Amino acid sequence: MSLPPPIELSSANGSGAAYAHGAHLTAWTPAGSDPVIWLSALARFKPGVAIRGGVPIVFPWFGAGRSGKLNPAHGFARTRVWDLASSAPEGDDVVAEFVLEGSGTDEPEFPYAFSARYEVRLGAALQLSLTVTNNDSQPFSYEEALHAYLRVGDVRQVVVEGLGGCSYLDQADPSGVRVRTQSGRVTFSGETDRIYGAAGQVRVVDPVLGRTLVIDKQNSASTVVWNPWIDKAASLEDFGDDEWPSMICIEGGNLREASVRLQPTETHTMRYSVRVDPSDSGE
Ligand code: BG6
Repeated sequence: MSLPPPIELSSANGSGAAYAHGAHLTAWTPAGSDPVIWLSALARFKPGVAIRGGVPIVFPWFGAGRSGKLNPAHGFARTRVWDLASSAPEGDDVVAEFVLEGSGTDEPEFPYAFSARYEVRLGAALQLSLTVTNNDSQPFSYEEALHAYLRVGDVRQVVVEGLGGCSYLDQADPSGVRVRTQSGRVTFSGETDRIYGAAGQVRVVDPVLGRTLVIDKQNSASTVVWNPWIDKAASLEDFGDDEWPSMICIEGGNLREASVRLQPTETHTMRYSVRVDPSDSGE
């Protein structure tokens, strides 16, 4: 069985597509630019399976969660079917809104009533916002990330700016997860899997595509940088062996000790945006 087709989103400012499955944006191309969002040629489009690429929504835990024991990886939001509440043009933009309700009884690992609203705005920038409300009678904590896969010319030539001086959890260290501090810009020469304590702007400078991607966030204390490199890519069924140079994940989130805690009736909104700065060609 495959998924129902995605919702096509198009306006004067660009075009994209999103599935109700996971409220998963799988494409965004701003007008006059090349595609920004990366999608694997081997991505699977099946109920219950996460789509490789696009922007998976990680909620309410990241990886195996803070306990290290939770399933499925990165939480259930990316494989649940969200309701499409609306999808309409707004001026030269197009905006879609998705909703996921949790009853408190359907997910044993997260037994709380909640609602999540996800707004996707395709404009001059791609603007994403995830709002979670506690509808339960008790407080709860959650992790969240907008796991954006960004298309690059060749990750070996990409430089990521904006993370210098930030501490990070190095999840790709062969001797175990280590805390380190970023010195200067991030470059790539092997598997990279890091959770930075970083709330500020990040710039992905791409000399091969001759552009810079500018990522801004609000209410997001964590930034994940991920590229699987050769061996990890080869181990993933839905990731082509030769695809790893063409992508990088820059994820905005609130992870680990930066988890969000909500009292009953409280709400939290995290925002993530990405835009192309063509004037910075990385030369
Ligand atoms: C990243 C994690 O966010 O997602 C990595 O930091 C993980 O550890 C990657 O490998 C992909 O996860 P998944 O579950 O989509 O294969």
